[in-house]
Formats: sequence, structure tokens, C-alpha cells
Amino acid sequence: MHGQHDGPHEDDSADAVSAQAKEFSRRLTAMGQSRLAAAAQATVGGLHALIAELRPSGDEFRLAIDFLTEVGHYADARRQEWVLFADVLGVSSLIEDQNNPRPAGATPNTVAGPFYRSDVPETPLGANISRDGKGEALDVAGRVLDLDGHGLGGATVEVWQANSEGRYENQEPDRQPEFNLRGRFRADAQGRFHFRTVKPKGYTLPADGPVGQLMSALGLGLERPAHIHFRVSAEGFETLTTHIFDQSDPAIGRDAIFGVKPELMAEFRALPPDGGKRKCALDLNLVLCPQRQGKTGTSGRR
Ligand SMILES: [Fe+2]
Repeated sequence: MHGQHDGPHEDDSADAVSAQAKEFSRRLTAMGQSRLAAAAQATVGGLHALIAELRPSGDEFRLAIDFLTEVGHYADARRQEWVLFADVLGVSSLIEDQNNPRPAGATPNTVAGPFYRSDVPETPLGANISRDGKGEALDVAGRVLDLDGHGLGGATVEVWQANSEGRYENQEPDRQPEFNLRGRFRADAQGRFHFRTVKPKGYTLPADGPVGQLMSALGLGLERPAHIHFRVSAEGFETLTTHIFDQSDPAIGRDAIFGVKPELMAEFRALPPDGGKRKCALDLNLVLCPQRQGKTGTSGRR
């Protein structure tokens, strides 16, 4: 209702620029242009528009400050509550999409997540990466391909996953062997690789901190559907970091960090029982795109 005096807030549309935001912008402009100044201006403009829309009370403002303070208190060398916050808001996934877009036909990139380790020794093709043998056996066979469907011989395929209880080896070093459910394979001359493992279970992100409490108050879940992480690198191609998800997981449509894409859903198909034990198989193609100018080929944040 621009220009009309119809109440105490004659202009409360969400895109209204507050006097404070205008003055902030004026002061910044006087200091010259930089990427930091542009980011500060956009952030302050967005924040003021949000405040104009929500009109928080003083108590609500203090609650927001307390929440952010608590997020900081929960973050340490072993746990990054800020990253968790960015993840559950879809921010991490969006930034990954913006920085690592892939052409049609290439496997989409995703965040690596917090459990990647770069120090896994090379494992021979066909190895069993379940170093404690616990869980339902899973045979994985795949090919690393270029956009034309040609195999990329000698590609490096790193893999890591949670166990049958949804826990990673580095989350519980006293309960799982070193490098359990991690491998580093070199594809054969046709780009093929295969290994044995166990079926991963989905897991729930940490619920005990402020982010978990916020999600609970919103009635939103923290589940991640079962998946296996891959990182594939080959000379002259952009490194692919991705997840392959079990499409039958009930949580497939509500991944808490927005990593699921149709191309990343696969069938973990049941095989005839092996000596009375359940067994399944996963077949997949991982398609890399050629290195493009201005791209490092490595995945962003983690
Ligand atoms: Fe994961």
C-alpha cells in the first residue's frame, strides 16, 4: 500500500528497503566496490526485508540470538553444527549444485559429507571392504564412463559407506576396524570395477544439538536414506563426488540434506540366498564429464 496512511506500518511489504538498510548501502558504496561489500549489501538487504516481513518482537530476536549462540557452542573439531545447519536448510546442496553443475548425461555431483577419508590404501578389484563381515552381503559392479559411453580405463574409484547399523567407521573407531567399509579401486582397462561389501543402512543426523531441536520443533525429520558414497577421478575429467541411494529406502523422498536426485537412485536387487544368507547386488554407471576451463575438478567444501 505504497503512499497510503492506513496504519502504523504504512509500508510493510517484504521488499521494502528500510532506512537502515539504505544507509548501510550508502556507507558501503562510499568505501568502493568489492566482493565482500557486495555480499554484505545483499545480506543486509535480505535480512532487513525478512525483518520487515516477520516483524519479530524483542523476545523473538533474543531467541534467535540464543539459537545462533548455541549453534556456535556445539561446533568443535569433531562436530560442525554450522555445517549441519547449512545442510538441513538445503544451503550446502544448493551451493554444490551451483559450483559443480554437470551436463546432461553426466552423473550429478553431491556434497562429500563429513565422513570422507583421503588416506584409504588401494584395494584390489573384487576385494571385500567389509572388514568385520557384519551385515547383509552386497556385490557392487560398475563402470566409469565418459559422456559417449566409453570406459575410462585406470580411473580411481573411492568408496565409503555406513555399516548395517547406519554408522561410519570413523564415528565409532572402538567398534569398527580401521578403514571398514572404505575402498580405493583402480578401474580396469574398460573402466570396470567391482567389490564386495554389506548393504548400508540409512541414518539420522545428530538430533541432540540446537539444529536437531529446531528441526524437531518444525516437525521435520533428520533422516538420510541408505546410500554409498563415491569419488571418481580420471585424467582430463572433472572429479565426481556423489552418492548412490537405495531407491527402496522409505526415507528416499525426505533426505534431510537434499542430496537425492533421480539419477542417483538405484536398485539394490535381491540375489538368491547364498547358503541361507540374504544377499543383494548393485550395478551402476558413473559418468564423468571432461575437464572444463575454470574448473578445478574437485568438489567444493567437503
Ligand atoms: Fe553418508
